[in-house]
Amino acid sequence: MTETITPRIALVGAGGYGLHHRENLLARGRDIDFVGICDTADIPDTDRLPLGETPVFADYRAMLEATAPHIVIIATPPPTHLPIATAAMRAGADVYLEKPPVTDLAEYAELYQVMTDTGRNVQVGFQALGSHAIDALRDAVESGLLGDIETVGVAGSWQRPDSYYRRSPWAGKRELDGALIADGALANPFAHASQQAIALAGDWPLGPVELERLRTRAGIEVDDTAVWRAVNKNGVRITVAVTLCGERRVEGDIYIKGTAGEAWLEYTTDRLRLPGETEPRQYGRTDLLDNLITHRREGKGLLSGLRRSKTFTGLLEQVLNDSVPRLVADEHLQRVDEDPVTILKGADQAVVDAARDGRLFSELDLPWG
Ligand SMILES: NC(=O)c1ccc[n+]([C@@H]2O[C@H](COP(=O)([O-])OP(=O)(O)OC[C@H]3O[C@@H](n4cnc5c(N)ncnc54)[C@H](O)[C@@H]3O)[C@@H](O)[C@H]2O)c1
Repeated sequence: MTETITPRIALVGAGGYGLHHRENLLARGRDIDFVGICDTADIPDTDRLPLGETPVFADYRAMLEATAPHIVIIATPPPTHLPIATAAMRAGADVYLEKPPVTDLAEYAELYQVMTDTGRNVQVGFQALGSHAIDALRDAVESGLLGDIETVGVAGSWQRPDSYYRRSPWAGKRELDGALIADGALANPFAHASQQAIALAGDWPLGPVELERLRTRAGIEVDDTAVWRAVNKNGVRITVAVTLCGERRVEGDIYIKGTAGEAWLEYTTDRLRLPGETEPRQYGRTDLLDNLITHRREGKGLLSGLRRSKTFTGLLEQVLNDSVPRLVADEHLQRVDEDPVTILKGADQAVVDAARDGRLFSELDLPWG
C-alpha cells in the first residue's frame, strides 16, 4: 500500500514503557498525527510529556472508533496484546505491538490469522532487530569471514533493586487473573537477548530447549538468573545466560562462532567486532516505527514482522509454563544499597562462561549451579 498522507497514530498503554513511545511520538512533531492515547489508568499530563490536543480514552475500542488510526502502538501488559491488536487490525490499522507479541503459540496462530485475514501489518517491538550491525554481520557471513556458523551465545548481567518488583501489578508474578505473565529475566528485560540470538542463528525453529531458572528473592515467582540452550533446525547451538543479580555489568554480549572465526556483538548498543578487527565498530539502528511507516509508504520490508517472533514465542511458552524457579540459598547472596539489589556471587562471570562455552549453570563449577 502506498500512502503519502501524514500517518494517524494512536497509542494504547500510556504509562510504563508507553512513556517511551509518547516521547518518540512527540519528538516527531507534525510528521505524524498523534490522534489518540488510551489507558485504563489516569494519564499524567506533564511538561515533558504534555497531552496537548491529543484526545484521551479509557477504552481502546472507543478510541479506535473515534480516531480511525492508520497505526496503533500497543504497550500494555502481554495478556492484553491479542484482544487489543485484533481489534486494531479489524478496525483497519497496522499495529506496532510491544514485545512479547503474545505469550504462547496458540495466541500467536490466532494473531497471525487476524493479520492475514485483515491484510494488516504487525511490527513487534524487538527494537534491536533494527540494528545495522546485523546487516554487517550477515555481510561478513556471506563473504565467508566466519566460515559456517556453529554457535551463538549471549551473556547479560544487570541489577534490579527490590522496588523493580513493585513497579506494576504483574511484576515478579508467574500468573495473574488466570493468565501466565511474561515477567522474569528471560521473559522480560532479556527477551531481546533471546530474540537476537535466534535471529543471528538464522531464524530457524529450535529443537528441544534445556532450561535452568533460579531466583534469589523469596517474594518473586519468576527467574532473575537463567540459562537456556537449544540447537536450531540449521544445526546452530544457541545458549542464552542472563542475570539481574550480577556484581559486574555485562551489557548484552553475543558471541557468534563459526568454523573460520568469531564475532562479538553488544546487542543493546550495536557495537560489533568482526574477525580480524581489534576494536568494535559502532553501527546505527533503524527505528521500528519509522520502518513501519516506510513499509506503508514504500513497501520496504518490516524488520520485526510478526513471523520473526514465532520461534521466540515457542521459547517463551516453555519458560512461562515452567514451574516457579528454584530459590538460591542465602549464603550465595549479598544485599547492597538502600533500595536493595541482590547480588548472586559469581553470576556475572557464570553468564559469560555459559555463553562462551555453550554450557548450562549445572555444567559449570558453581556453588549455586
Ligand atoms: N521494547 C522494550 O524494550 C520494552 C521495555 C519495557 C517493556 N516493554 C513491553 O511493553 C509492554 C508494557 O510493559 P509495561 O512494563 O509498561 O507495563 P505496565 O503494567 O506498566 O503497563 C503499561 C500501561 O498500560 C496500561 N494498561 C493496562 N491494561 C490496559 C488496557 N487494557 N487498556 C489500556 N491501557 C492499559 C497500564 O495502566 C499502564 O499505564 C509489555 O509488553 C512489555 O514487555 C518493552
